[in-house]
Amino acid sequence: MKKLYIGILSIFIISMLAACGSQASGEQKQGEESSDKKVLKMATSADFPPFESHNEKGDIVGFDVDLANKIADKLGYQLEIQDMKFDGLVGALQSGRVDMVMSGMSTTEKRRKNVDFSKQYHRSGEMFIYKKDADIKKLEDLKGKTVGVQLGTIQEEGADKLSKKYGFKVKKVDNANILGQELASNRIDVGYLDKTVAKGYVKSQNLTGFDDPTTSSPGMGVAFPKGSDLTEKVNNILKELEASGEMDKLKDKWLSEYQE
Ligand code: ARG
Repeated sequence: MKKLYIGILSIFIISMLAACGSQASGEQKQGEESSDKKVLKMATSADFPPFESHNEKGDIVGFDVDLANKIADKLGYQLEIQDMKFDGLVGALQSGRVDMVMSGMSTTEKRRKNVDFSKQYHRSGEMFIYKKDADIKKLEDLKGKTVGVQLGTIQEEGADKLSKKYGFKVKKVDNANILGQELASNRIDVGYLDKTVAKGYVKSQNLTGFDDPTTSSPGMGVAFPKGSDLTEKVNNILKELEASGEMDKLKDKWLSEYQE
């Protein structure tokens, strides 16, 4: 009888412990376990400076990465970053492979059907960029040209629509870094991308360009699987970071050179 009692008691204790261990409370574990924090899995497409890109050492750095680290810190999680193609990010959230996405992602209504977004943390707008001798000044001048966009972006969708009206070809690439190379080697005439990122190419490759007059795309937000309880927590953290001035500091550090 006593043995049976101890047996039942230990099963009870083991299952209690297991339940505690698997609970996703988001709080740092106490005592001796505090060094192995729970992991917050974030996915990004690290081809989009100043938001996310690889530095010389191969580490992923940028505004989104710093912001993600602050968010993870405040939640008591250890941040783990997975680099993937931009057009795979929404799927990674939907299948639950990652907990959040930060990738300069515009908070479009279309994406909202499949993911939840935090409040917006940056607004970029779109820009067409090209070499200075390209003889382009406005949308009408794009006729017969090849415009490069990144797959899965709002620019892909935008370019598909505009191409019919303005008579240009659209070349779609996986990786946004390639757009700069394609321009340099004349495999595309024009790149169409987020203005904040485009400004970097304008400077580093001595290009020029014009703002897209046709769209008013929504700002960038953090994306989560539908129904995630992180959305509200992260919204509160974003508000805290705005109120404390930390958000402005991050923007000064990463984005100031890329603004007008
Ligand atoms: N803002 C655009 C969008 O949401 C492009 C984002 C591309 N991001 C990246 N990391 N390559 O569609």
